[in-house]
Amino acid sequence: MSYRLFVPVLLSVALASAAPSPTPNPNNIILRDLATPRFFGAAANTSWLYHDKNYTEVISKQFSIFTPENEMKWENIEPEPNSFDFGPADEIVSFAESINAKMRGHNFMWGNQLPPWVNTSLTATELDRALQNHITKVMDHYRGKLYAIDVVNEMISDNTPNETFKDNIWTQKFGEDAVPKALTYARAVDKTPKLYINDYGIEGINSKSDTMYNVVKGFLADGVPLDAVGFQCHFGLNQVPTDLQANLQRFADLGLDVAITELDINLGAAFPGNATALAQQAQNYWEVVNACVSTNRCVSVTVWGVSDDHSWIPLGNPLPWNDIKQPKPAFFAIADAFEGKPEPSA
Ligand code: G3I
Repeated sequence: MSYRLFVPVLLSVALASAAPSPTPNPNNIILRDLATPRFFGAAANTSWLYHDKNYTEVISKQFSIFTPENEMKWENIEPEPNSFDFGPADEIVSFAESINAKMRGHNFMWGNQLPPWVNTSLTATELDRALQNHITKVMDHYRGKLYAIDVVNEMISDNTPNETFKDNIWTQKFGEDAVPKALTYARAVDKTPKLYINDYGIEGINSKSDTMYNVVKGFLADGVPLDAVGFQCHFGLNQVPTDLQANLQRFADLGLDVAITELDINLGAAFPGNATALAQQAQNYWEVVNACVSTNRCVSVTVWGVSDDHSWIPLGNPLPWNDIKQPKPAFFAIADAFEGKPEPSA
């Protein structure tokens, strides 16, 4: 290049880098594409799918994996003994198929959202039969349609190391056999879906995650079928543990997949969220997605909902889209993290 051409080129490069970078056009950002080969997911909810136009538009475009927020939980899918209502969950599964997205089942063994008939009068033998029947019927119905299943949800105690498992109907009737039972029944029905244990409070390295680590390590040694651990990641503002990635890694090093399964960042006292709070929230989203991207066996990041108005947290504005389904700073931070770009400034 001649000197006369080189100088203007240099000048224009310098001017371009001095100019503020233009805000990216959100219409051109498709998180499910940026996440590849990982999946970017959402908890989907039939109260809004097809009923809220803007919600449906976002959910149709941005995600490659879904978890039914409530539709596959026991009280909804088998409200009476051996009487199944697959309708609402089917709606989400069909929707996922229509946009070539995967599904995560949620869940089989949990202490909450159980119908009274499960939670009260059954003997251990009856409950055992009910559990096996439930897992078998649901997995048969969705054979070939579930990429993963949260077989076990929130069973680790909040009182570790004194207690390993939560006190609920499952542990009351089956003791320490409860969790292996559910996993074994699930694997016996279908070998394809990835079988998960999913929990909260295990994101950083702490007593509860140490307990989870020892539990799953023991399961693997004993041949209990288990493919992965789900880290829910319901965080408050600026509460993402700094050792999240190291913690994901230690589980991955056991030979398990790991996934971020229920991510949201509750603004808490900063609700409804000024520019500073939204920028901090964006950083927090970046930190979580970056931890997943930095972990070879982290297969997906799922946010627990889509837009703030439909979150399970009423006054937390915890999601990447606001009440009118416009992308928040968190949305752009998620894109940056999937693309390997640095943490945004707050
Ligand atoms: O469907 C009934 C409706 O008929 C009734 O009129 C109404 C009255 O309150 O309640 C409706 O049920 C609610 C249901 O969500 C559907 O909206 C329940 O009360 C409410 O408790 C339930 O909350 C769900 C919660 O799990 C229950 O524990 C949330 O939507 C759901 O986001 C939340 O999800 C859990 C994950 O499964 C596990 N990890 C934690 C996460 C957040 O709590």
